[in-house]
Amino acid sequence: MGDPHLLQAAQPVDKFATPALRELVQDMTDTMRYLNGAGLAAPQIGVDLQVVIFEVNQNPRYPDVEPVPFTVLINPVLTAMDNFMEDGWEGCLSLPGLRGLVPRHVRLRYQGFDAEGGLIDRMVEGFHARVVQHETDHLRGVLYPMRMKDLSKLGFTQALFPELARTD
Ligand code: NI
Repeated sequence: MGDPHLLQAAQPVDKFATPALRELVQDMTDTMRYLNGAGLAAPQIGVDLQVVIFEVNQNPRYPDVEPVPFTVLINPVLTAMDNFMEDGWEGCLSLPGLRGLVPRHVRLRYQGFDAEGGLIDRMVEGFHARVVQHETDHLRGVLYPMRMKDLSKLGFTQALFPELARTD
């Protein structure tokens, strides 16, 4: 947080199935998994492209959420299915050690491409929808505290969730 890469709009990807794009996705995947992230956006590693990845599968930083399949999502377009919002706790690898209560759309359609240029078009809800909104925000220069309505619900993970302190 504070790095200018995290506060600017990322550029769309215009060439798919390239060695450079595959290498970027691999770097991001290694980083996300090493740090037990639920997702990662390219600007978080200093690359100003509209590339996000996410995956939740028995993640010690998010033990109580439903699994989310590993996904590479490029040039994403999000459409809320309705106006229903829900508060949920989020963390971010760019704000280590912190969690905040963030309102997000519950039901979401997202469209985009994978690294090979294949079309992605899904309707999701719950934590899956939350992760997609969080990661896509990184491509617009938005960090989760900017979405919060009540900053008294921003705190250190070890104070809010002592049982998670050693993993975050
Ligand atoms: Ni994040």
